[in-house]
Amino acid sequence: MAVEIIGTGRAVPDRKVTNQELAGRIDTSDEWIRSHTGIGARHIADENTASSDLGAAAGLQALSWAIEKGAVAELTPAELALTVDVLIVGSTTQDYYGCPATACIVQNKLGVKNAAAMDITVACSSFICGLEIAAALLNTEPRRRRALVIGAEVLSKITNWEDRSTCILFGDGAGAVLLEKTPDNPGTAGNVGRGLLRTILGADGSGWENLFVPRGGTRAPWKKGETVDDGATVVMNGQAVYNFAVGAITDTIAKMMEEEHLEIDDLKCIVPHQANARIVQAAGKRLKIPEEKFYLNLEEYANTSSASIPIALDELNRSGALQKGDLVMTVGFGAGLTYGGNLIRW
Ligand code: ACO
Repeated sequence: MAVEIIGTGRAVPDRKVTNQELAGRIDTSDEWIRSHTGIGARHIADENTASSDLGAAAGLQALSWAIEKGAVAELTPAELALTVDVLIVGSTTQDYYGCPATACIVQNKLGVKNAAAMDITVACSSFICGLEIAAALLNTEPRRRRALVIGAEVLSKITNWEDRSTCILFGDGAGAVLLEKTPDNPGTAGNVGRGLLRTILGADGSGWENLFVPRGGTRAPWKKGETVDDGATVVMNGQAVYNFAVGAITDTIAKMMEEEHLEIDDLKCIVPHQANARIVQAAGKRLKIPEEKFYLNLEEYANTSSASIPIALDELNRSGALQKGDLVMTVGFGAGLTYGGNLIRW
């Protein structure tokens, strides 16, 4: 069976924090941030907003898109929500760490009452991984038909706003896709089959200490009476993550192209995880892929972790840049360290 994307959505907070605004608070500059990352701004959630709020808003948009565009025209969003069998939320910034799954909170907000709900927590690779797991869950049970896959993050709440080497990188937001199982045979990338054609997933746990949040888990839980002045935010070895990322993206694209017998012209575009434009440029240079082939929006949103790829897919979809039949590849990396990519016939 094919598993197609029939709806996309996104939600980003209204408040936009430019590089100039950050430069007014910490020792940095618009020039440094742009030249080292390609980032121009980030959207930041207010104090009361959690990942499930943004995730549910993006999910509702994905449901509404499928209705507006006629994929399921006869249903209201609430009725369509009841037909969703699987709800997956990818998040590095769950509403409550580990318990309960943020997906359960999103399920309640959206009325996706008949769905199994679960979180995927492989950082920025979560959406790529979630797509594959959702497709697998649809394919292993004939009665499952639709899945909602969401990436949702409020990274601003685990960011140290005094650390200029990390705080410039991250932003908040959510993206979502609605998947439907259809009788078409997806076949291989070379033929006309639609939907999710192939996923590559991997991890190198030896690098976990290069990007993590030190406190709050079972290794170093908070102690009674302790004040939260250290350890609650992301710490990162930027250079190590950079080197891993360039290698992982290069290898994933090369493997996908080779094993699926693709030429670069077969692809409408590559949607990379939006972490740093220099990472994408370095990978593109190694593979001799022109820069224009990569869709980048990190100038506007910075790195929204698991939300970055579905936000980009929604932008491409709503702008009409992706049309039925187009071949698109996602590729990403994240804490763990993890990596992966999807090949999708739109
Ligand atoms: N403004 C001005 N100067 C800065 C800033 C800043 N915001 N940050 C660092 N610098 C300074 C450093 O102090 C250093 O100064 P020095 O030479 O006097 O010591 C100089 O700039 C160079 O610093 P580097 O760390 O070598 O800068 P680099 O070019 O490596 O860029 C960066 C740093 C942007 C963090 C890069 O390493 C990177 O993007 N790494 C990957 C990070 C990433 O993608 N993380 C997300 C992973 S996804 C997930 O799972 C969430």
